[in-house]
Amino acid sequence: MKLFGTMKKTKNSLEIGGIDVKELKAKFQTPLYIMDEELIINTCKVFTKNFNSKNIKGTIAYASKAFLCKYMCKLIDKQGLSIDVASGGELYTAYKAGFPLEKVYFHGNNKTLEELELAIKLNIGNIVIDNENEIDKLINLLEKENKVMNVFFRVNLGIEADTHEYIKTATLDSKFGVSNNDPNIYNIIKKINDSKYLNLLGFHSHIGSQIFQEFSFIDACNEMLDFYEDIKNKLNIDLPKVNLGGGFGVYYNKEDDPFELENFLKKYINHIESEVIKRNLNIKEAIIEPGRSIVGTAGSTLYEIGGLKTTLSGKNYIFIDGGMADNPRYALYKAKYEAININKDFDSEKELYTVSGKMCESGDIIITDIELPKCEIGDLLLVKTTGAYNYTMSMNYNRLVTPGVVFVNNKKIKEAVRRKSYDDLILWDMEEE
Ligand code: LLP
Repeated sequence: MKLFGTMKKTKNSLEIGGIDVKELKAKFQTPLYIMDEELIINTCKVFTKNFNSKNIKGTIAYASKAFLCKYMCKLIDKQGLSIDVASGGELYTAYKAGFPLEKVYFHGNNKTLEELELAIKLNIGNIVIDNENEIDKLINLLEKENKVMNVFFRVNLGIEADTHEYIKTATLDSKFGVSNNDPNIYNIIKKINDSKYLNLLGFHSHIGSQIFQEFSFIDACNEMLDFYEDIKNKLNIDLPKVNLGGGFGVYYNKEDDPFELENFLKKYINHIESEVIKRNLNIKEAIIEPGRSIVGTAGSTLYEIGGLKTTLSGKNYIFIDGGMADNPRYALYKAKYEAININKDFDSEKELYTVSGKMCESGDIIITDIELPKCEIGDLLLVKTTGAYNYTMSMNYNRLVTPGVVFVNNKKIKEAVRRKSYDDLILWDMEEE
C-alpha cells in the first residue's frame, strides 16, 4: 500500500502529521478532509527550488481551484508562491486572506463585469485575457479608473494531452483561448498591445490536467515559443514572460505513473531557457500553475463505515457517511482511488468491495472493486489523494453538510475550514413574508 508524506500505519490506526486519525474523528466527526501540511510545504519547495535557471526566473502560481481556503492562501504565501484564481470568489478569498494581490493571475473564459471591476479595484497583478470578448470590457473599465493592467493572452496550442476528455483544455474545439493558428489572433494581439490601458506581458497556455507524459509539456513549450517567434516576426512584439499552465499528474492508484517532479522541473526550465536562447526571444520569466501536484496526494478523506450490504447478485457494498457530495470525481470522470481500512492490518484477509456514499443516487460511488481487509461497521476508511478538486467541487445534494478541513503538521492540528452545520445549510433560505 502506497503511503504519502507523513502517513504512518500504526496498529489499529494510522497517523498523519503525527496525529492519530481516530483522534481527528473524535474531534471533528466524519467525513473529514485531512491535509498533510508538511507534504504541501515540501512539494512547494520542490517547485520553487527546481523551476529556476540562470536566465529564466521561475514563478510558481498555485492553481487555487484545486483546493482553496484562507489558510491555504497563507500557507502558499509563506512558501513564496503566486496564485492563479479563476473567479471573483477565488480572488476574494485570496484578498481576505491577505495574499499579496500583485502575485495574482486571474483566469476565466467569461469573467463578468463585476469580477473584472473587483480585480481592477484590488489592483491585482495580472489578468489572463481568454478571448476577444474580454478586451473591450476590460479597456472600458480601466479607462474609467484610469488604470493600467498587466495582461497575458491565452493561446490554444492544439496539443492533445492524454487525459480525460473533460479535463483536456487545448484541443482545437476547446472553449479556452484562441488557437495560435487562427488568423484573427494577430489582430487580437495587436489590439491588446496597442491599448494604453493594457500592458501585455506574455502568452498563456494550459494543455490539461493529470498528464503523465513529460513530452506533452515539452511539445507545448516548443509550440508556444514558435508562436512567440511568429509574433516577433510578424508584429515586432517581443514579450518578457511566458505562462505555461499546470497539469502535472499525480498518483491515485496503481495505474498512475507520475514523473518525478524534481527531475522534470529542472529539465523543463532548462529546456525553456535553451529554446528561448535558440530563438533569440526576450523572455526572462516563466510561470507555471500547478494545482493538483501541490495538494493532491497531501489530502485524504476520512469516513466511517455505517453499513455493509451484499446484493443478491453478489456485489459487496461498503456504505460510507459521505460520498459524491464531498467527492464527485467518480461520478464525473470515473476517477479511481485507493483506500485504507484504518482499523485493520494491511495484510489481513481481503474482500472485494464497492465503496458507496449515502446520497439518493445510484452513481454515488467513490471506488468500485477495491480489495480491502474484511470491513466491519464502525471501521474508519481513509480515501487517499483527495486533496485536489474534492473540497472545491463538493456540493450539498440531499442537504449533506460539507465536511470540515483540518491541516495536520508535526503533531499539531489546524482546523482550517469548519464543518458546515444544518443551520449553515438554511442560511440562504429567505423567510416567508
Ligand atoms: N491553470 C489553468 C489555467 C487551469 O485551467 C488549471 C486547471 C490549472 C492551471 C491547474 O491544473 P492542475 O495542475 O491542477 O492539473 N476538476 C478536474 C480538474 C480540472 C482542472 C481545470 N484546470 C478534476 O477533478 O480532475
